Amino acid sequence: MIVTVGNTKGGVGKTTLSLNLALARALAGREVWLIDGDRQGTAQTAVSIRSESGVSPGLACATYPDGPTLRAQVQQQASKFDDIIIDAGGRDSTALRAALVLSDILLVPFAPRSYDVWALSDIAALVDEARSVRDGLKAFAVLNCADPSPSSTDNREAAEALADFPQFTYLNTPIVRRKSFANAGGQGLSVLEISPRDSKACDELNALVKVLF
Ligand SMILES: Nc1ncnc2c1ncn2[C@@H]1O[C@H](COP(=O)(O)OP(=O)(O)OP(=O)(O)O)[C@@H](O)[C@H]1O
Ligand SMILES: [Mg+2]
Repeated sequence: MIVTVGNTKGGVGKTTLSLNLALARALAGREVWLIDGDRQGTAQTAVSIRSESGVSPGLACATYPDGPTLRAQVQQQASKFDDIIIDAGGRDSTALRAALVLSDILLVPFAPRSYDVWALSDIAALVDEARSVRDGLKAFAVLNCADPSPSSTDNREAAEALADFPQFTYLNTPIVRRKSFANAGGQGLSVLEISPRDSKACDELNALVKVLF
């Protein structure tokens, strides 16, 4: 399955979720390819840190910030992998547009903050455009950096604001703001691998993986 983690808004957790989803699937024994579609190359750097420290399983990763190259490479190599996760970078780009046309699923992370909710209109327009080229793109939105309280008004209001965007299906599997997500990424690890174990973070990631795959 090809999953793009994308949002034209920067800093919403695209790279964090891409790395965690890719590693969760690799740990489950799947052949996974993580594609960094962002010129910044953050996902690629995280995977390089992982390789240098010899952590198993290794993760195949390539950087294609240019849309036509990304499309050609995915079309050529897709059959070698069970899952392809594309981290599409934090703005409207040729890589993001190419990824949307290739993907089965778009996962849009957003934080429970007004600016993040307002910015959803840009990525919603790109979803419309991708669907006009090719039917069948499923688009899901999920809270990242959610407030830890289950009764958080901000989480609830952000989820409710999604009703304004019929393009997205809201996934009620929020990823909470937790140091373990930031710490794991810096070591090229998923939250499923770091010690000490953060069982809440693991549960959140596993719930998201289950609903997506
Ligand atoms: N659930 C989380 N809990 C704590 N920190 C998080 C979480 N998600 C992301 N972060 C941190 O927030 C910052 C931005 O996350 P990330 O780099 O994944 O976002 P991005 O959408 O890929 O950004 P960009 O648009 O620049 O590519 C990073 O420092 C990351 O470690
Ligand atoms: Mg990123």
